[in-house]
Amino acid sequence: MITTTGFEKGEIARHLRDIGARRVLEIGAFKGETTRVLVDTLAEAGGSVVVIDPMSWSSEIVRNGIVRHTARFPRVLTTIERLLHRASYEPAFWQNVGGRERAGIHLYRSLSSDPRLLASSDPVLQSFDAVFVDGDHSYAGALLDLERWGGRVRDGGLVLVHDATPRFPGVVRAVEDWSRSTGLEAVWPTRDSLCVIRVRGALAERGLPVTHVNHAP
Ligand SMILES: C[S@@+](CC[C@H](N)C(=O)[O-])C[C@H]1O[C@@H](n2cnc3c(N)ncnc32)[C@H](O)[C@@H]1O
Repeated sequence: MITTTGFEKGEIARHLRDIGARRVLEIGAFKGETTRVLVDTLAEAGGSVVVIDPMSWSSEIVRNGIVRHTARFPRVLTTIERLLHRASYEPAFWQNVGGRERAGIHLYRSLSSDPRLLASSDPVLQSFDAVFVDGDHSYAGALLDLERWGGRVRDGGLVLVHDATPRFPGVVRAVEDWSRSTGLEAVWPTRDSLCVIRVRGALAERGLPVTHVNHAP
């Protein structure tokens, strides 16, 4: 789904309030429709939202559009990504979240799999109360997000995964594998597609080894 449903937006806000969240990461924000909910909810507690998204149509069309239907990543897709790279939905993002001057938003224009970002010592990226995973919907992409970013959620925090339904089998399999390897229970959606995983204990040392890193666009 291109954004969360109204029901999911309400659930996300409720979960964040329940844990008193002040630092939330959204991976894959697109035009900021859910980011708006995150920022508004966290503003109540004086918190801030970190967003990782390349803000480029290439990632949305190629990674979430075409790649979902192909087993491999053909060379032609690399060309399409390059051509689309300059086209951006970022203006719509800022409009939806309330303007570039809106406080409490840290935007990283990047893929979540970018090795430089993953290795960054930027304090803003080290630890979160909750991570909302809604970026690359392939198995490898979703698993990397769970391992490398979900692994930064504190004890008692939450990993929320969008599109955890049979329409996105890669996302479902990634959640199954990560929850098995970490021993965390995934609460699957009974309505719409938001999966909720509550973190217990320190996650940094747990989870599957990363076996795949996507190409940067
Ligand atoms: C389904 S949309 C996100 C929708 C948004 N969370 C919402 O609820 O309105 C997916 C977004 O993820 C971005 N994306 C794709 N692969 C990504 C990656 N590896 N890292 C970060 N963002 C990615 C796409 O460019 C797109 O903006």
